[in-house]
Amino acid sequence: MTKALVVYESLFGDGRTIARAIADGLSARLPVTVTAASDAPTTLGPEIGLLVVGAPNHVTGLPRPATREGANRDYGLSVDPAAGLREWLDEVRIEGPAIAAAAYDTRMDHPKLVTKLDHASRTEEKLLGRLHCRLVAPAEHFLVTSPEGPLVTGEEERARAWGATLGDQWEARLAAANG
Ligand SMILES: Cc1cc2nc3c(=O)[nH]c(=O)nc-3n(C[C@H](O)[C@H](O)[C@H](O)COP(=O)(O)O)c2cc1C
Repeated sequence: MTKALVVYESLFGDGRTIARAIADGLSARLPVTVTAASDAPTTLGPEIGLLVVGAPNHVTGLPRPATREGANRDYGLSVDPAAGLREWLDEVRIEGPAIAAAAYDTRMDHPKLVTKLDHASRTEEKLLGRLHCRLVAPAEHFLVTSPEGPLVTGEEERARAWGATLGDQWEARLAAANG
């Protein structure tokens, strides 16, 4: 049976909450597994029909070892600086036909002029493209009130609705491809 896989990076837990809500929305259409990038399988077989990836913005981009080290230092965390979504997308291999995919990121609730600089999800989309994934929807952005969270009120519900929309898009494309 075709499945969806949601792979996230999250230092403070907000992106994990979003990943689970997206999975909840998707689950109306297909079975879903949610996993941290550091635990995600490095080979995806043909049973994976939809891949959703998400991570926080760190210094306007996708986290890197130096930004994770900075977070460990500044916030007393102990995340592995070398393991995250960027590294997983660099390492993972896809077996079988091109997978449908979508990207999201989390970012601070700043004025649009400032958040425009944030480009983590753009890099995710670029790395998905390198894996020959087909994007089913534009990237989505979810807001936190401070670096350590919490999420802005309503973002979890918005993530659930976005997951449901992704499931609908995926099914519509499948129906179109099957004539
Ligand atoms: C090292 C570091 C750099 C950050 N840089 C940015 C940034 O450039 N733009 C932004 O909107 N948020 C920035 N933030 C806040 C993160 O976006 C926020 O911590 C994250 O979205 C929370 O998600 P998480 O709980 O899943 O880690 C930064 C946080 C850290 C720790």
